[in-house]
Amino acid sequence: EKGGHDYFMLKEIEEQPEALANTLRGHFTDGRIVLDEQRLADQDLRDVDKVFVVACGTAYHSGLVAKYAIEHWTRLPVECELASEFRYRDPVLDRDTLVVAISQSGETADTLEAVRHAREQKARVLAICNTNGAQIPRESDAVLYTHAGPEIGVAATKTFLAQIAANYLVGLALAQARGTKYPDEVAREFRELEAMPAAVQHALGTVDQVRALGRELSDSKAVLFLGRHVGFPVALEGALKLKELAYMHAEGFAAGELKHGPIALIEDQLPVVVVMPSPKGRAVLHSKLLSNISEIQARGARTIVIAEEGDDTVKPFADHLIEVPAVPTLLQPLVSSVPLQVLAAEIARSRGYDVDKPRNLAKSVTVE
Ligand code: M6R
Repeated sequence: EKGGHDYFMLKEIEEQPEALANTLRGHFTDGRIVLDEQRLADQDLRDVDKVFVVACGTAYHSGLVAKYAIEHWTRLPVECELASEFRYRDPVLDRDTLVVAISQSGETADTLEAVRHAREQKARVLAICNTNGAQIPRESDAVLYTHAGPEIGVAATKTFLAQIAANYLVGLALAQARGTKYPDEVAREFRELEAMPAAVQHALGTVDQVRALGRELSDSKAVLFLGRHVGFPVALEGALKLKELAYMHAEGFAAGELKHGPIALIEDQLPVVVVMPSPKGRAVLHSKLLSNISEIQARGARTIVIAEEGDDTVKPFADHLIEVPAVPTLLQPLVSSVPLQVLAAEIARSRGYDVDKPRNLAKSVTVE
């Protein structure tokens, strides 16, 4: 059943190109982005004046990625918030607010309660969900299903990538409704998304290299993850995977915060994973991250660098270099997350843990 893999998670990691392709299929017809279920008038989408994304865990990290794309494409302010915090702080909601609720299971208690709170305040709710007919989509005004297929591993992998793709479709649907992007621009962005299954397949070429690295790092006490821009949520997600699977202390940081505290944690041989931005797409951030890596390397850290193929400038700073294909900046999380998933799984396996059923965790968290 595991398709010849040691654990389901690895099979599911390898299914990511297909999960992405299935999630995108059918959502661009007659030159327009279409949702799965829309119980809202187009005018309601046009009237949206701010967006909240609410979710938990990995789904929340997909929402953090979405914030960059939705703000860029729509010029709407987007806040991404942990569903468990959302309704306890009296968020400012009205009928022109769109709340995007992201949940693989569609049954997560905190996300469901956030949806209910939003609807009580008359906000519109759009659900992104992997489970047909689950409670969250049933209680929402519009739905976009991720078609990642069932996920057996407790750790979310293929559903994370599918959520990012679905979030981008929501961003494009809003840009289309608001007219902040011309139809040909929407079409071009969609085509770039459609190229991602092949790019992710290419990124899967790193699996053997990363598994070997995972075995090498299995005795580490802690691992830090650094990123900027869309690489920051990737760093948070890499750290979450390692915590939940390998029971190892792992923290993700925005690299710009290094000097504001985290650099004090750097010590000899501490593994630090750095998610590099593209040297072309984000040249300024790229050079800032290069100086961050040289600072941590000078303090003895073991640097593991996820970088775009052909990025030679990074080589002197990388004790381990993992190359992923060059893709447009906003789409980078879809390729750079892949090695981090494999790394966490392999460290966990080397430590003798059950990768598919980590201790203390359930696949769907239906109590608060
Ligand atoms: O079903 P949901 O997407 O609402 O679940 C949210 C989180 O519980 C989930 O992503 C959790 O963080 C995963 N185990 C992470 O791998």
